[in-house]
Amino acid sequence: ELRRLEEEAQRNRRLRATGEMAAGIAHEIRNPLGSIELFSSLLKKDLSEDQDKREIVEHISASVKNMDRIISSLLLFAKSPQPSRQLCDLNELLKELFKDSSAILIPQGINPVFSLGKDAIANGDSHLLKQVFINLIRNAIQAMPEGGDLKITTQKSSQLEQPSDQSDYCRQFIKITVADQGGGVSEENLANVFNPFFTTKDHGTGLGLSISHNIIKAHQGTIDVESEEGKGARFILKIPYWDYELDKK
Ligand SMILES: Nc1ncnc2c1ncn2[C@@H]1O[C@H](COP(=O)(O)OP(=O)(O)OP(=O)(O)O)[C@@H](O)[C@H]1O
Ligand SMILES: [Mg+2]
Repeated sequence: ELRRLEEEAQRNRRLRATGEMAAGIAHEIRNPLGSIELFSSLLKKDLSEDQDKREIVEHISASVKNMDRIISSLLLFAKSPQPSRQLCDLNELLKELFKDSSAILIPQGINPVFSLGKDAIANGDSHLLKQVFINLIRNAIQAMPEGGDLKITTQKSSQLEQPSDQSDYCRQFIKITVADQGGGVSEENLANVFNPFFTTKDHGTGLGLSISHNIIKAHQGTIDVESEEGKGARFILKIPYWDYELDKK
């Protein structure tokens, strides 16, 4: 247990330091990137006659847009999230996510399986929590290119537990799991998946899980992964239950 806490503290320190550095770099890169974008759009106008050269300029534009997308997620990662504390029905939030194809597109072979428990009311920021679920669900889908079950469960824990910030009061949690039947995470990678920039994908930024980790921490919750290579991965979240009495404490 002690080792786990020390590892977690180290992980948090590392995340904070990397976040500050990333914000600095992202900020500095945005300006020259803006110039490239501006000049390439000017060039594109000039080259309206010259198909070949215009295509080259369009490649430049597309790459700039891609870099801009990466920088946006960098900035999102670097900014410590300040969640609002509102009543959030996680079951509703999840159901809406699956209806909204602009949030996530569920490919043909993917079979969502829900097991939603009663009273999954969290105390949190629905916008930020949605981001977390989108990241986890995208990862699960990407892990199953051949398709498979995507299992999502919510469950209110019946016991009181100590929140991660070690404060002295205890509270109830909602446990949410997102499990897939993909390739899973190898044992050596298990310790790294929440690290910023850790990715095994060709076009990944490696920021999805570290952003999610930051958001859940800011909710005084926890996020963990269990996996066996070849047997899929399961992400387990605990988010504080909505407590009507909390405001009075
Ligand atoms: N469901 C999963 N199954 C197997 N491996 C996973 C799963 N989710 C995450 N991982 C591993 O953790 C790594 C980090 O995930 P993370 O979401 O932070 O970044 P990414 O998915 O690689 O990139 P991005 O989220 O920016 O597209 C992944 O590259 C992958 O190796
Ligand atoms: Mg991801």
